[in-house]
Amino acid sequence: MSDKLLAQEFIPPNEAADTRDLAARLKAKIIRDNPTGIMRRDAHPKMHGVVKAEFIVEPDLPDDLRIGLFGEAKTYQTWIRFSNQDGTIQADKARDIRGMAIKLMGVPGDKLLPAERNEQTQDFILISTNVFVTRDVAQFDAMLKAMTSGFWPKVIFFGTHWRVVWNLIKSLKKFANPLQMRYWSTTPYLFGTTAVKYSAIPHQTDDIIPTNPGPDYLRDAMIAQLAKGEALFDFCVQLQTNAERMPIEDPGKEWQESESPFRKVATIRILQQSFDSEVQRTFGENLSYTPWHSLPAHRPLGGINRARKIVYDAISTFRHEYNHVPRREPTDWSI
Ligand code: HEM
Repeated sequence: MSDKLLAQEFIPPNEAADTRDLAARLKAKIIRDNPTGIMRRDAHPKMHGVVKAEFIVEPDLPDDLRIGLFGEAKTYQTWIRFSNQDGTIQADKARDIRGMAIKLMGVPGDKLLPAERNEQTQDFILISTNVFVTRDVAQFDAMLKAMTSGFWPKVIFFGTHWRVVWNLIKSLKKFANPLQMRYWSTTPYLFGTTAVKYSAIPHQTDDIIPTNPGPDYLRDAMIAQLAKGEALFDFCVQLQTNAERMPIEDPGKEWQESESPFRKVATIRILQQSFDSEVQRTFGENLSYTPWHSLPAHRPLGGINRARKIVYDAISTFRHEYNHVPRREPTDWSI
């Protein structure tokens, strides 16, 4: 019998040092990757579009799901940024992980980041795979170190980390349309007396990859769909019901849906719209998402999320300063 509790964190002794190392390594990497022009995000620099959406909390949720902002049936104005994960901006036909970053606005209550305590935003950040590549910060930092070194460090790292290789193989995929694919948080978040992972499940999944895809065919698919009508997703939570088989400190391990199914808590309604203007692209470039834009009720859990508190702030602050643009949280759909 395990003595681990649900939602319980265990902080490895070297995590703070590994996180500092990681932030410094990523900063050096983006300086190298962006020698001229705009300083971009280290991860997810290519945006397909930032779109207006409503986040509609389900009415009449059962008691165990009425936690934090899911306690009240309410509709929030939302910005969603869709992206490719790769650090270089490349054609969409390349196998990659895709991102769906959701920012609710008008969310009352103190938030977790002291410098942004009074902001009214709640972010949910999802990717197109249900497992993260590494188990913890030390392994992620070691992977990055190997990837930015020569041939042999790469061979040695990947040759001795088979699960990392397997998680990468499963994650790097081609997709037809960012509005017609499923996304997961991979990392856990506090939810009452337990933890949850999030997933957004699309209502429509009938698009296919074009035979001769243009470099930005994912953006083109979004433009075509949102010109005709809206796009819907179910936003779901998967409750942690077993602390051993559904670990907090290892997002590289899947929480099996047979153990605990995803349950719907909200509808995401992406409005019919045209979004691909220069001004809206710049707005999306200058947004900052972090899992730590959050109410305490939905606090990020686990080492990878703890590292993201430091790293996202460091990289976002750096790129905004470098680009001479103010960093601000939006309050509504105006840009
Ligand atoms: C230690 C692990 C991780 C590191 C070092 C990392 C690093 C970063 C950085 C530096 C950014 C750009 C921040 C900014 O400049 O605004 C970013 C964005 C992003 N990350 Fe991570 N990340 C990690 C884990 C994850 C995980 C587990 C997910 C799973 C959901 C994820 C999904 C995303 C997405 C979707 C974006 C783009 C957000 C946007 O549209 O602005 N990352 N990440």
